[in-house]
Amino acid sequence: MLEAIQLTKRYSSLPAVQDLSFRLQPGQVLGCLGPNGSGKSTTVKMLTGLLEPSRGVVRFNGRAIQEDLASYRMHLGYVPEEAHLYPYLTGWEYLEMVGTLRAMNRDRMYLTIDSLLQLFSLHPARHATIGTYSKGMRQRILLIAAIMHDPDIFIFDEPLSGLDVTSALIFKNLVQALGRSGKFVFYCSHVLEVVEKVCTDVLILRKGVVIAHDSVTNIGKILGQSLENTFLHLVDDVDTMDVARDIVEVMKAA
Ligand SMILES: Nc1ncnc2c1ncn2[C@@H]1O[C@H](COP(=O)(O)OP(=O)(O)OP(=O)(O)O)[C@@H](O)[C@H]1O
Ligand SMILES: [Mg+2]
Repeated sequence: MLEAIQLTKRYSSLPAVQDLSFRLQPGQVLGCLGPNGSGKSTTVKMLTGLLEPSRGVVRFNGRAIQEDLASYRMHLGYVPEEAHLYPYLTGWEYLEMVGTLRAMNRDRMYLTIDSLLQLFSLHPARHATIGTYSKGMRQRILLIAAIMHDPDIFIFDEPLSGLDVTSALIFKNLVQALGRSGKFVFYCSHVLEVVEKVCTDVLILRKGVVIAHDSVTNIGKILGQSLENTFLHLVDDVDTMDVARDIVEVMKAA
């Protein structure tokens, strides 16, 4: 089980995340929704061990992850919000480096890299440098890097960023399949339909505080609405139509 217990992170006097707790069982796909700046990426960084919480703890199978971060990371597949890829390495070289750092068996690693590059339609570009890749190609390399060692826990921060329709659909189906095969998945997104489709549970953040945490079916039922309406109802009092109209007016006046 993956547990977050009263996670709090302060960058300044105002906490970016406050008292966030959840338990994730194998097979659960927990979606994390929230407006910009609500603390999603900060939460993700604490769950991956990249950021130490100001208070609280993350436990995997009963053990605080900070006790042995290196072995926890072996179980982890993480797609960060922002890609830090090496532009002078080819896609193949980058994945080889990641697999080697994770101490993957070499034969298995090469087979896996080759197959995943084909499945993600990157095989023809495997010997081109990452600097020449499009945004979607870089994102697909990041996805491969996150899953190639068959981890138990998947943490995705806006994983669909830059992906075209086909790649996004493949990825959504993959996330569902990961859940069905008993993996742990934590999935941050702004795309409500995706969360509605691929997640079993949802956690909604507002200003660093959890304001709703339930199964996707229940959360819609409680308010008798789609997730989009529920989300807007819970987090914002903004009339999006009004704001869009005002933006057009401002542009016209310029
Ligand atoms: N390194 C940092 N130093 C200071 N403040 C930070 C830092 N990182 C994040 N914050 C602040 O913490 C809050 C939460 O940021 P976070 O990146 O977790 O939000 P988010 O929900 O991921 O937003 P987005 O949807 O835009 O990705 C914001 O107010 C942000 O300004
Ligand atoms: Mg973020």
